[in-house]
Amino acid sequence: MEIRKIRKAVIPVAGFGTRFLPATKSMPKEMLPIIDRPIIHYAVEEAVRSGITEIIFITGRGKRALEDYFDHSFELEHRLEKAGKKEILKQIKDISDMAEIVYIRQKEALGLGHAVLRAKDLVGDEPFAVLLPDDLINGEKPCIKQLMEVYGKTGKSVLAAEETSPNKVSAYGIIDPATDEHTFKINGVIEKPSKEEAPSNLYIVGRYIFDPKIFEYLEETKPGKGGEIQVTDAIQKLAKNEGVMGYKFEGEHHDAGDKLGFLKATVSYGLKHKKLSGEFKNYLKEVILDKPALQAGMTEKENK
Ligand code: G1P
Repeated sequence: MEIRKIRKAVIPVAGFGTRFLPATKSMPKEMLPIIDRPIIHYAVEEAVRSGITEIIFITGRGKRALEDYFDHSFELEHRLEKAGKKEILKQIKDISDMAEIVYIRQKEALGLGHAVLRAKDLVGDEPFAVLLPDDLINGEKPCIKQLMEVYGKTGKSVLAAEETSPNKVSAYGIIDPATDEHTFKINGVIEKPSKEEAPSNLYIVGRYIFDPKIFEYLEETKPGKGGEIQVTDAIQKLAKNEGVMGYKFEGEHHDAGDKLGFLKATVSYGLKHKKLSGEFKNYLKEVILDKPALQAGMTEKENK
């Protein structure tokens, strides 16, 4: 069993962000901020903290703001320097120095599997990470680092797994686990099954470590659920032929690609924020304790 170092991460960012229209009519959904950082910042930071040195963004039309975000901004840096704003200047410079980022365009939106396959030549013959930036994961040890450790022990591809409720299985890739251990072998996976079809309540969170063999399976994957080339369908073949592991990671996960998930993430990050948490906590207490204020924000139906 050959264990190789994981140096590269693929981050697909070509999605339209229809769930956040009209905001995403003129800005990429990955640039929506959780407090003062765009969603994409957290995924890149997680990858870098895990030891990734090269990031491959699979991008598309209307995503140029992402490239600008991770580039130097000489005018802004010059202005901040002149104004003596050292702290924010350092933060701005650090963003562009975070990692080596390469951009590939996904010319047609044919699905997540199709997006990942775009990275084949740049990744080459080595294991790599995939991070879906909508999935925000806050934990002491970065989630993708946790998966890398499972890869380090098993030499197999690894998926991040979490429990969901039976009503939500049809929104995700669902895992058929071989055991109920923390680290487990996967029998199979199925993309967005009905409640009846779902083999478990364990779903794939957007963090993956892949053996480069995944590319061969992606190449032969036909459009599946929703007419899209699904990465889950290629994982199904990978699991049957090469073996794939699942891992119930440690950390707090929010689906920031969903409006309610985005709101929850904002509250959670606000409560942990170095400068804001005290005042924000007080504000939330006031809102919860002050019933009329809470009710004022509710619809008539919810008030009943
Ligand atoms: C994608 C994957 C799905 C996975 C999910 C995690 O779905 O296809 O298997 O569970 O990400 O966020 P999407 O959210 O793009 O519909």
